[in-house]
Amino acid sequence: MSIEIEVLNGDASWPLAKPLFDAVWPPHVVKKLPWADIAFAHAELRVLVQNEAEEVLCHVGLYRRDITWNGHKIRAAGIGGVLTREDARRHGYASIALNAAVQTLKDEGSTPFALLFCEPHNAPFYMGRGWKPFDGEVYVEQPQADQTQGRVRFEAMAPYVYDLKRAPRQGVLDLCGLPW
Ligand SMILES: CC(C)(COP(=O)(O)OP(=O)(O)OC[C@H]1O[C@@H](n2cnc3c(N)ncnc32)[C@H](O)[C@@H]1OP(=O)(O)O)[C@@H](O)C(=O)NCCC(=O)NCCS
Repeated sequence: MSIEIEVLNGDASWPLAKPLFDAVWPPHVVKKLPWADIAFAHAELRVLVQNEAEEVLCHVGLYRRDITWNGHKIRAAGIGGVLTREDARRHGYASIALNAAVQTLKDEGSTPFALLFCEPHNAPFYMGRGWKPFDGEVYVEQPQADQTQGRVRFEAMAPYVYDLKRAPRQGVLDLCGLPW
């Protein structure tokens, strides 16, 4: 089977990606996940792996943001929404899409590291692909009951970093916005 890999604008490609999200993460599945109640940012770019019928088999979302590390401004990239259709898993599609995401960031050359969050059962997958645990604290913004954004510690999933040039491994990261 031939596949096509594309890196597309996040908002414009959301209608293509949505059926995959609905299939892998329907509401009754999401509600049991540790991040069920978290508000996430929308991806700026999406890596899509499509089959010959133009069905999206795999998705990786890409984010870029000025954040802070120990109070100093630093450019960061984010990876989120890594998912493969159940019947297409273990064919290397998520690995291919992650590689394409990392290559896109390397080509841009302006970002020292990438950051993602994952549940414990997915950690070996990322560590096998060069991601390392970030041992510090992560803060994000979340909507509050009074409709404002509040700064909260993010602990729903564990952070992992990837050296595009060099990633921090400890300290305090503040994403200065919603998590991804
Ligand atoms: C995690 C997830 C994205 C992996 O997607 P995938 O497309 O199956 O990933 P890959 O095929 O690249 O790799 C998965 C495993 O299959 C193996 N694999 C890859 N190609 C293979 C092949 N042709 N034959 C057999 N195994 C293969 C890989 O080596 C890998 O195993 P490893 O981690 O022990 O090395 C997928 O399981 C998923 O969508 N899970 C639900 C959503 C989720 O939890 N997402 C993660 C959010 S952080």
